Amino acid sequence: MPFTNLLINDDGAIRSITINRPDKLNALNQQTIAELHQAFALARADESVRVIVLTGAGPKAFVAGADISELDQATPVQMRDLSRAGQDMMRLVETLGKPVIARLQGFALGGGMELAMACTLRIASEQARMGQPEINLGVLPGFGGTQRLVRLCGRGAALELCLLGAPIKAQRAYELGLVQQVVAADALDDTVNATATQLAASAPHAIRGILDAIILGADAPIEIGLSYETQAFGLVASSQDKAEGTRAFLEKRKPNFTGT
Ligand code: COA
Repeated sequence: MPFTNLLINDDGAIRSITINRPDKLNALNQQTIAELHQAFALARADESVRVIVLTGAGPKAFVAGADISELDQATPVQMRDLSRAGQDMMRLVETLGKPVIARLQGFALGGGMELAMACTLRIASEQARMGQPEINLGVLPGFGGTQRLVRLCGRGAALELCLLGAPIKAQRAYELGLVQQVVAADALDDTVNATATQLAASAPHAIRGILDAIILGADAPIEIGLSYETQAFGLVASSQDKAEGTRAFLEKRKPNFTGT
């Protein structure tokens, strides 16, 4: 996989994707957005990949936002196309059908926070800082941030973070429901690995049903969401893993899910 701005590493069923522009705090230029789109499409298509960990290179930043030097030069049409490219890539992450864990060790600002919000789970170091500072550049979030933030944290927090533009500490992000866990910096990798390992050993068809029902169902009327859940609940019964999971419980042993 020949990427210029990404590092890819597989450890069993866990694929790590690292955005590798540490000298620019991993800012999302057009090429990085295109490479992320391609990398996630490959991860989706690869049956051996069960979980993706997404992070940024270096200790300082997950991603410090869209690349401001590109924004500075962009025409209105280019801004529109950049917004669409970022939104498309992040929607792919959000609807991948496999869990994506955002490992947040430092700044997740602007497009970085938007990318983190498109992930399934967010695990942050105490040193992480999150925010939507676009207002300070005279623009607004353009990669889905206005829509995902209000859904994750409600209208008050979404308006506050987008209008005032100040970064928040990891603990406040946790209190807002923006991240699922905050841990000491030196515990971040172990915590992310433990969560990824647990998900990689879980039944992928059940995971897929949960992701689709919650992510797609949450934006549909409840009758549609409930119907979707019922269909997924029925479909998962065709898997070997459903038979294994229920049998293992009754036989008082740990299940061995094979993904079939
Ligand atoms: N786009 C392009 N380059 C960026 C960037 C971005 N979003 N964020 C940081 N960089 C670059 C800096 O220009 C600098 O490059 P240089 O060494 O060639 O001058 C390098 O990354 C290091 O950043 P620097 O600002 O020197 O680090 P800092 O520790 O002083 O500050 C931040 C860190 C995150 C507070 C600061 O970089 C920042 O505010 N970044 C922009 C955040 C933002 O507004 N994001 C939303 C964009 S829409």
